[in-house]
Amino acid sequence: MLIILLPVLLALYTPIDAHSWVEQLTVIAPNGTFVGEPGYARGNYERLAGRSIDQQMTNLIPPLGRAVVTQASPTDYLCKESQRTPTQLEGARLKASPGAAIALRYQENGHVTLPANQAGKPANRGTVYVYGTTDPKKDEKLLDVHKVWTADGKGGDGRGVLLAVQNFDDGRCYQINSGKISEDRQAKFPHTAIELMGADLWCQSDIKLPANVPVGKPYTLYWVWDWPTLPGADPTYPKGKAEIYTTCMDVDVVAKSNSKLAIKDGFVNGQDLNKAAIPGVFNTLGKAQSLPPPTTFLTSIAPAAEASATGVERQTLTVTDWVTSTSTIFMERSQPTSMG
Ligand SMILES: *[C@@H]1O[C@H](CO)[C@@H](O)[C@H](O)[C@H]1NC(C)=O
Repeated sequence: MLIILLPVLLALYTPIDAHSWVEQLTVIAPNGTFVGEPGYARGNYERLAGRSIDQQMTNLIPPLGRAVVTQASPTDYLCKESQRTPTQLEGARLKASPGAAIALRYQENGHVTLPANQAGKPANRGTVYVYGTTDPKKDEKLLDVHKVWTADGKGGDGRGVLLAVQNFDDGRCYQINSGKISEDRQAKFPHTAIELMGADLWCQSDIKLPANVPVGKPYTLYWVWDWPTLPGADPTYPKGKAEIYTTCMDVDVVAKSNSKLAIKDGFVNGQDLNKAAIPGVFNTLGKAQSLPPPTTFLTSIAPAAEASATGVERQTLTVTDWVTSTSTIFMERSQPTSMG
């Protein structure tokens, strides 16, 4: 019996264990539409039907089995071993010009649409920090960069900058499931199912390259998803738990083409969501903001009576303050530049 049941249970709960990484990078045109060939992270494994690449792409800090779960260690590498050098595996680097807007897309895997799966997580589903550098290190340590590098480039050893601070929940993305958040979003943000995403709508961090990145060289991006468990919320982690996922990637910086993309139209509403930026974030790119988004936490999770068809219990969430706004931080020398 158990032999029969186990695969069924595993199948039902797969979304809970699957974690997130940057699946694809795409340049965003001034009207908010993805343009050109996508790019991929260092050491990328292509998503092919029937192939599980979670192990190859997930980078968890602190790693499973670490005695101290409340914080990262100063010796923790920022990048997964397969991503410590600027080496492509399956999928080329993105090509982008100085000042270009770029979408970094990832799957929410239920971390947005099934928030009751983990107790004590931030209401914004964690915060994504994107750092940029022209001078990456093979043995880059997380704690030398994360919450150390600053928008003005003066933080830490000064080798890089903080490019963006955004909510993991971009306000639109969903995985198809029967939870209320997913069902609401499926209705509100419909799109044609495509081979890459299927019927899901991937999340995105929309960033802007600094205007002064040198052409003809790679520019390195570190995507850091900081998804802590609040102390006192989960009996397994009375003092809370640090949980950070990263993706390391490079962009080949190329000269701007002569074609005039410079119409400052901003996001065009009503466009195909399969290849559209997040308007609330995209329209603020390049406009300096001084504060990261407020971090708010779930205050209680009350199980409801009904169970959904997927076998995942439906729960009612009470949040202290649902974060709807997303802010982006830019260093001063990356102030608005006209693209194109
Ligand atoms: C936005 O601009 C790009 C590049 O010029 C173009 O391919 C795309 O069709 C435009 N999208 C919309 C919705 O107008």
